[in-house]
Amino acid sequence: MTVDLRTNYLGMTLAHPIVPSASPVTADIDHLLRLAEAGASAVVLPSLFEEQVEHEAMAVHMGLEWAKDSFAEAADGYLPDLDDYNTGPARYLELIRAAKNELKIPVIASLNGTTTGGWALYAKILADEGIDALELNIYLIAADPNLTGDQVEHQYLSLVELVRRTVEVPLAVKVGPFFSSMANMATRLISAGADGLVIFNRFYQPDIDLNQLEVVPNLILSTPAELRLVLRWIAILHGRIVGSLAATTGVAGAEEAAKLVLAGADVTMMASSLLRHGPERLRETVEGLETWLEDKGYQSLEQAKGSVSQAAVADPSAFERANYMRTLMSYSPQW
Ligand SMILES: Cc1cc2nc3c(=O)[nH]c(=O)nc-3n(C[C@H](O)[C@H](O)[C@H](O)COP(=O)(O)O)c2cc1C
Repeated sequence: MTVDLRTNYLGMTLAHPIVPSASPVTADIDHLLRLAEAGASAVVLPSLFEEQVEHEAMAVHMGLEWAKDSFAEAADGYLPDLDDYNTGPARYLELIRAAKNELKIPVIASLNGTTTGGWALYAKILADEGIDALELNIYLIAADPNLTGDQVEHQYLSLVELVRRTVEVPLAVKVGPFFSSMANMATRLISAGADGLVIFNRFYQPDIDLNQLEVVPNLILSTPAELRLVLRWIAILHGRIVGSLAATTGVAGAEEAAKLVLAGADVTMMASSLLRHGPERLRETVEGLETWLEDKGYQSLEQAKGSVSQAAVADPSAFERANYMRTLMSYSPQW
């Protein structure tokens, strides 16, 4: 490579910023190997969900570990191993082990939930498997009218604090954009112990089937049109938070990755595009980004990073309300 594409993410040096995001493309070792072969600089495994880490699974694990330590006979095998139980967590740990054994790139595990319940302690179990970093995806739909914004924020921050106290591995927190004051929340998430933010979680949005009159699960893959919200907030947060910034949602290829780097992203993550086009899209994205940087005369990714962030541009208000009215007025019906 003629352009130095290296980037620092959560304290790790990655060969370039293109990382497969948590999704089915990272859910088994065969796909992980193909992504690594295509040049992924790190991988984020799909989430272990709060719902998967059922109380019993936790109790079984804790009980077995305690019993093993406590009774000599246990070591001789009268107690079944956790792996004998067909639990989500057991399979997840197997995936981590396989990924750590077979990949030479950082493996980032993901935990997904909303409460500070026992499942959050799974962070420690994952960390003990040797993951390189942990992504905490906080997916909270604040539908209760009695729940105030303050309480919601407190729930996020408590969870981050708990996980931070539990593990020392680099910690990224993946959040959605629905906060009254995103910049303030971003700062507080970092103060609570996050080493970086992944923005933005793309909330799954159910649909209604007009024939069956039912709510239907309907996951639609993203398009680059969804990049703008992420682009704006990466640009605003770059240089303002003391932590890494990963961008997710709408990265279809090199064009979107280049824009995000200019805005200030340390890493740009891909899920939908890899689901659609396969691992070769990752290689094309890395090569396309390098070609673009080279054509523009950059010698390194670092030179370009954040050069069109809010702090760097001549008119910072362009990322806020400025031109809003003029832009709206520029439209007129074509009929
Ligand atoms: C089928 C599918 C499964 C996903 N599973 C997870 C998951 O387990 N954990 C998570 O944090 N994000 C998950 N995501 C979200 C992606 O990691 C990503 O943030 C989102 O799709 C936006 O990126 P994209 O535009 O590249 O698809 C999933 C996305 C898809 C499409």
